[in-house]
Amino acid sequence: MAICDTDLIRAWTQVLTLSKLKAGDAVTVLTSDHTHPQTLRCAITAATMMGACVSRLDLPPVNGEKALSRDTLAYLGTTPLTGNRAAIAALKASDLVLDLMTLLFSPEQHEILASGTKILLAVEPPEVLARLVPTMEDYHRVQAGVALLKGKREMHVTSAAGTDLRLPLGEYPITAEYGFVDQPGRWDHWPSGFAFTWPNEGGAHGRIVLAKGDVLLPMKNYVGEPITLTVEKGFVTAIEGDAEAELLREYIESFDDPEAYAISHVGWGLQKRAFWSTLGLYDREATLGMDARAVSGNFLFSLGPNNEAGGNRTTACHIDIPMRHCNVFVDGLQVVNDGKVVESLMKPARTDAAKEPAHA
Ligand SMILES: [Fe+2]
Repeated sequence: MAICDTDLIRAWTQVLTLSKLKAGDAVTVLTSDHTHPQTLRCAITAATMMGACVSRLDLPPVNGEKALSRDTLAYLGTTPLTGNRAAIAALKASDLVLDLMTLLFSPEQHEILASGTKILLAVEPPEVLARLVPTMEDYHRVQAGVALLKGKREMHVTSAAGTDLRLPLGEYPITAEYGFVDQPGRWDHWPSGFAFTWPNEGGAHGRIVLAKGDVLLPMKNYVGEPITLTVEKGFVTAIEGDAEAELLREYIESFDDPEAYAISHVGWGLQKRAFWSTLGLYDREATLGMDARAVSGNFLFSLGPNNEAGGNRTTACHIDIPMRHCNVFVDGLQVVNDGKVVESLMKPARTDAAKEPAHA
């Protein structure tokens, strides 16, 4: 169902308010050929109505001839900003960049964030943005998830399908993705709602059994038959099953990069307004699949780079795999039970409430 401009402008206004946009702030809207026109129009309207000084920077797409799909997360590394000094200077001079293009995983993004500029990625369809417009409740829920990961030594994931994966923790930061940018130098993605980290280098080990209804991204497929991944010393060393395992193997092999098999970010979804079923209702090219990444109670793991967390892996291959019906434990404490978050643990700590940013 389409959404009217009024509702999308209202959603943008909510996100920009949570992101502490002030009158006079310099906002640059970053666009490319695939930017949704309604999202762009409403972003500019909302930011302008709030008194921001708004510019648009449109850049040509890259890597189309290398990627196996049109998904903007399917091929990482170089971006339209690579080597573009003028564009980088414009973004570093901005208080807030609204990324309607997808800069994720690029060194240029790190450089821009380091200058204090905030970046908010927003590329899902307009009605998905409106349904999943972030709230302070989302913020507190994700911060509660982050608090559960802080200082922990191991994440352990099991499932009735046969998953038994151990992920030693502590080397990498813990990340909260709640859908707005309330601090200088912060990056976030609207829509979101999950907490995650990265396993210690070379430490992940065990077995992952993908089961019916789990999701492969960027394929945007529901898994239809078991796929078993063997994980040793931080890398997937075998992908076994029937035709779906063969297709997954072929996709990863196409990158011809051993780093593509590394276990990357791991965590669980907390977004109660996201659903497993929505992926089946959209054309593959219309969505990134953020519902499946954020849905409350998923176990989300990925293969590929860890440079976002300060690691050295920069492979162009990145596969996110949200799994259903998992049990997730952190240092023995169960935080997800058969695909449902343990709600009593997802309440904001009193100390978090005391530090709550002054949002409207
Ligand atoms: Fe990912």
